[in-house]
Amino acid sequence: MNVMDVIRNRRSVNRMLDDDISRSDMDDILEAGLWAPNHRFTQPWKFHVLLGDARRDAGEVLAASVLADSGLEGPDREQKAEKGRVYFLQAPVVVVVSISRSEDEVTDNEDYATGAMAAQNMMLVAWSKGIASKLRTGEFSFSKEIKDHFGIPSENRIVGFLFLGYPADGAVPPARQRDDGNVIWLG
Ligand SMILES: Cc1cc2nc3c(=O)[nH]c(=O)nc-3n(C[C@H](O)[C@H](O)[C@H](O)COP(=O)(O)O)c2cc1C
Repeated sequence: MNVMDVIRNRRSVNRMLDDDISRSDMDDILEAGLWAPNHRFTQPWKFHVLLGDARRDAGEVLAASVLADSGLEGPDREQKAEKGRVYFLQAPVVVVVSISRSEDEVTDNEDYATGAMAAQNMMLVAWSKGIASKLRTGEFSFSKEIKDHFGIPSENRIVGFLFLGYPADGAVPPARQRDDGNVIWLG
């Protein structure tokens, strides 16, 4: 597949098989992340790769943090705790993409953008190998407890949880509009 085909055909996939991803494929995917452009070569990223029981342990951390949250009660709390408990089990591999912070606002923005580029690089290389992905953010990505669990400094940002696995079913590509006013030609 050429680059444009990979870009066009990549889709966020919800349901993934339990089949493992080989270590050599994971090395390629992670290397693609490390090749993301980063201004001033800050390399602000950390990629925590969760496999096997590491996914379960991280889910227990999320569940415990929900149960300890005095702001939630009753079935809502139980439901959310269960969501956390199984959260990382949705794929055989989850890469936690986090980036360090800078006191300089410009660098801080650039570094966050770089984290997103790294995630996209990884998604594209994964898809070129037939490995599907889904980047998830949501409130769990702000969890202090989960950052503590991985040793990510609390001020750092989790750009997303990158779920990777072989697709259990095809995702229908939502066509992108080519001419909806998003591209403005000048000159
Ligand atoms: C920064 C970012 C955060 C996302 N967070 C979530 C999420 O928390 N949960 C989810 O189901 N999908 C999430 N997605 C996936 C998007 O919903 C998905 O990319 C979008 O529907 C377009 O579909 P496609 O990736 O197949 O083109 C996220 C995507 C991006 C880029």
